[in-house]
Amino acid sequence: MAFTAVLALLAGARLAVSQNSSFPTSTAAANATQTSSGTGSLTTTFELSVDDFWDIYVGPVSTFSINTTVEPTAIPSSSLIPPPSLYYPPFPGGQQVPLQTKNESWQFPKDFWYGVAGAAYQIEGAVKAEGRGPSIWDVLTHRVTNYIVTNDTGDVADNNYYQYKEDIARIAALGIKTYSFSISWSRILPFGSGTVNEAALAHYDDLIDTCHQYGVTPMATLYHWDLPLYLQNTYGGWLSDSIVADFTEYARIVFNRYHSKVHYWFTINEPIVFCGFYPLPQNYFKATTIPDVEQPYWCGHHALLAHSSAYRLGKSINSSLSISFKTNGGYKIPRTDSSADADAVQRAWAFNEAWFADPVFLTGDYPSLLKDFVSGFLPDFTSEQIAQINGSGDIFAHDAYTSDFVMAPDSGIAACVANSSNELYPGCYNTTKLYAGDYWAIGPAGDPGTPWLNKATDWVPVFLKYIQDTWKPRGGIAVSEFGISEPYEELRTSLPSILIDPLRSQYYVDYMQAILIALSEGVNVVGTLAWSIYDNLEWTSGYSVKFGIQYVNLTTQERYFKASAFEYVNIIEKYLEK
Ligand code: BGC
Repeated sequence: MAFTAVLALLAGARLAVSQNSSFPTSTAAANATQTSSGTGSLTTTFELSVDDFWDIYVGPVSTFSINTTVEPTAIPSSSLIPPPSLYYPPFPGGQQVPLQTKNESWQFPKDFWYGVAGAAYQIEGAVKAEGRGPSIWDVLTHRVTNYIVTNDTGDVADNNYYQYKEDIARIAALGIKTYSFSISWSRILPFGSGTVNEAALAHYDDLIDTCHQYGVTPMATLYHWDLPLYLQNTYGGWLSDSIVADFTEYARIVFNRYHSKVHYWFTINEPIVFCGFYPLPQNYFKATTIPDVEQPYWCGHHALLAHSSAYRLGKSINSSLSISFKTNGGYKIPRTDSSADADAVQRAWAFNEAWFADPVFLTGDYPSLLKDFVSGFLPDFTSEQIAQINGSGDIFAHDAYTSDFVMAPDSGIAACVANSSNELYPGCYNTTKLYAGDYWAIGPAGDPGTPWLNKATDWVPVFLKYIQDTWKPRGGIAVSEFGISEPYEELRTSLPSILIDPLRSQYYVDYMQAILIALSEGVNVVGTLAWSIYDNLEWTSGYSVKFGIQYVNLTTQERYFKASAFEYVNIIEKYLEK
């Protein structure tokens, strides 16, 4: 099937992206119009095929030798032998062996779901296969100098596009019951809207069917940051309200196709993070006049409208679906008992979780501390929009990796709010991983490539309780991503040294015990998804930072269970209601 789109190209800066490509004159429709006298505003329109679009904006991509869907190879039984004990429960007084304790008052309810997660651009590879159009991440990885610290791309990644059957068979063999994946928008709609790519729909059909075949519950995310490039280049992506209709149409195609075999849906992944990517690097995408400081909030505005519109549509297609968006963040611990730090904590909630959670779970509109800022430039939500947004989340899906201490800026909150050049503006709160005294960290640090991430599992029960008490989600709370980057894992060269990941193992055991504590205190936690199914493209850190509970040899694409995979499953099975 031929996919084409008409793209207007501005003369000047934006053509710089095509400097290494041969321009596809054969398909260009000569339709140049001079709109004013300056060269910067000369425009011309071309009819482009998907291949042209790749050639101009991305250039050549790498492929892997396994490039058709493969049947799973047998999982060696030796790889399913649990590791030597890594996590040591306390020695009871005077005894020489660790006490094998089980707290009989803890329990995961029978229907508690536990699984692993991945996301399309981070794991699939096969970026040009079967008609996929480029996403902004293909440009960010291929074209933007130093955007990815290691110059890695997602061209091959974990080759999941062809090896998904093996991947699903492997997690099933471990006893993992749920797999959360994301759908690549630009596979389904290579230009973000328009003609549908049937081959991509058939691919996800088979992936979902394979999950069912192995007794694994599939969960699907519609958008995990891989915006179709065409939408960024034609109207600025999430900066424009045009995204709302395009996202809703994409959601319609996907819900219609899969609603009878996928029950759990996440619309958008972590809008705090992907809206924080704006402003995108200049000269690679459509230019915008929206000031940098406003861009994340325009994105957030349209993300709320797009999410809620997709939510309402999904419910109208199948009212039994569970549809939510995934938010992210950690518990915000006041660093001291000063009132300034208490105020800073309120600002930190307002500019993070509450930015999206207050509209969806409480009021249909922004928290007042955030509204004070955004009402200076964003339109007010109409009463119809408020009604659409309010209540558009069935569960509170939170990607909760760590926690932070929060404090007021040194100059004080009021001075910061009055000074848009303050580096903490507009949030005007500060964070640290260090306890007051600046000596001890909140917990062991992850890899130096993830300075935002320390193990802080002690704070999980109070955090989950805070979410329940504040946003009162009707379907409970899911920890929809959690995990840790094992420090310096990429420097380990021998397989046995890679496969024992003690910090990650301890993280999963302690985290799951923290959830047991929260459950015993009456917090309704419904499930967990470990990030990640295996090592993958960690965005701007490339493959240098590892989050997997499986190791992937990127040269051979062989997968290996790490010790943490067993620890995660063991602690759940130990406490799961029989
Ligand atoms: C994202 C993942 C990412 C992980 C670890 C989450 O914020 O959803 O895509 O790989 O964190 O950084």
